[in-house]
Amino acid sequence: MEAHESVTELIGNTPLLRLRTSGGSQSAVVYGKLEYLSAGGSVKDRIGLRMIEQAEQDGLLGPGGTVVEASSGNTGLGLAMVAASRGYRMVVVLPDRTSSEKVAALRAFGAEVVLRPSGLPLEDPEHVLKTAARIAEETPGGWLAGQYDNPANPQAHYLTTGPEIWRQTGGRITHLVSCIGTGGTISGTGRYLKEVSGGTVQVIGADPASSVYSGGDGRPYFVEAAGHWRHPETVEDVWPQSYHQDVVDRVLPIEDRESILTSRRLAREQGLLVGGSAGTAVAAALRVAAEAGPEAVVVTILPDSGRQYLTKYFDDDWLLRLGFLDGDPATVRVGDAVPAATRERPLPYLNGRTTVADALTALRELRERGERAVLPAGPCPVGPERRPTAPELAGSVALDRLAEAVASGAAVPGDPVAGHLAVPLPQFGTGQPAEKALAELTERGLETAVVLHDGHAIALVGAAELRACLPA
Ligand SMILES: Cc1ncc(COP(=O)(O)O)c(C=O)c1O
Repeated sequence: MEAHESVTELIGNTPLLRLRTSGGSQSAVVYGKLEYLSAGGSVKDRIGLRMIEQAEQDGLLGPGGTVVEASSGNTGLGLAMVAASRGYRMVVVLPDRTSSEKVAALRAFGAEVVLRPSGLPLEDPEHVLKTAARIAEETPGGWLAGQYDNPANPQAHYLTTGPEIWRQTGGRITHLVSCIGTGGTISGTGRYLKEVSGGTVQVIGADPASSVYSGGDGRPYFVEAAGHWRHPETVEDVWPQSYHQDVVDRVLPIEDRESILTSRRLAREQGLLVGGSAGTAVAAALRVAAEAGPEAVVVTILPDSGRQYLTKYFDDDWLLRLGFLDGDPATVRVGDAVPAATRERPLPYLNGRTTVADALTALRELRERGERAVLPAGPCPVGPERRPTAPELAGSVALDRLAEAVASGAAVPGDPVAGHLAVPLPQFGTGQPAEKALAELTERGLETAVVLHDGHAIALVGAAELRACLPA
């Protein structure tokens, strides 16, 4: 009989598929390793199994035990699948920005999901990693998987992903391109391929452009589960021990727009429904293929399925709202209400650490210049080259309300303004129809909105400016 005894036998051994590229005869061939065809739906099944097996061997996990992990989803799913098949209890701690599909899938495996706020510095006791460690410690029989620092993570890829790729390409692979989250995939797969090829295989990281791995400043980005984000208040930024930089030859930064549009094109043009990080990896692989020449064989890892992101990268409304789609050129769009000169200027913005007194001064200056006396505010450090991303627009400050708070004694001039933020200004993407944006502002009785392009705030726009650019 061609049957398996356990779902864990259906982890890995994923197929390699030649991707169509537009590079012509001068480009290398590119193969995608389809990790979404693993039993639990992602590259992380491999480490779910390997980490649990190792913990069992080391006597850290046994009958009646509880597996605990902080995971943006896929590792949680891989662990939850293996835990379910072996009868362990599973607790997963997640940032509250995790896609709802991933949370629902974890619950379906019987895992208990603990949500913690996204955007906390590592030092905060409520941070997902700190919370998971605490739960593991306080639970009898609890074991923290700890994918960021667990040697079984890169080892899973050294033992499986690397050998599979070597075998599937008949030893012809010349370049491996992979995203870096914990670093396990690229480190384990890359190390194996370098060793077996006598050091000839080039290992290239694909990274969201603002992630620190490719030299970015760690500001937020929109590709889930790849890269490394740095909270502005994090004191010491620690990189995962699962990431072995010595294996990686270079890391290419890929803008969110390119990653997202690449994933969408893979679905529409090649029938591959894959996630955003697969878009990052393929975008980087295409660049590598163009440089490497026709003799090269590029392999890239497509970590998971697009089904987990139907309400994000595959939802036109979500993309339009963040300014990742250009919208219908036949209609007047929000971007049309932003003069080119305004786009060039840095967006007026208040860092939450600004004092109430300084915020009042800035707002009064705006009013004296005849401009609207309201500013978006949040944790983004201020600077002309910096445009806050949508998640950094945590609140807003209006002159009249803040002045009132000081007059009533509710705010002290020396306080950081972060403690006195009003709700965030509404946000519209440059490609959204101006008419709809105006209707939404009017309905909510608001005057000012933030305009987003590629997920970054580029300008403020008022109801009057939107009205002015619409036909009478
Ligand atoms: C969808 C997706 N892409 C990429 C990665 C990065 O893989 P690694 O953590 O092995 O570096 C992950 C990790 O969670 C992931 O879930």
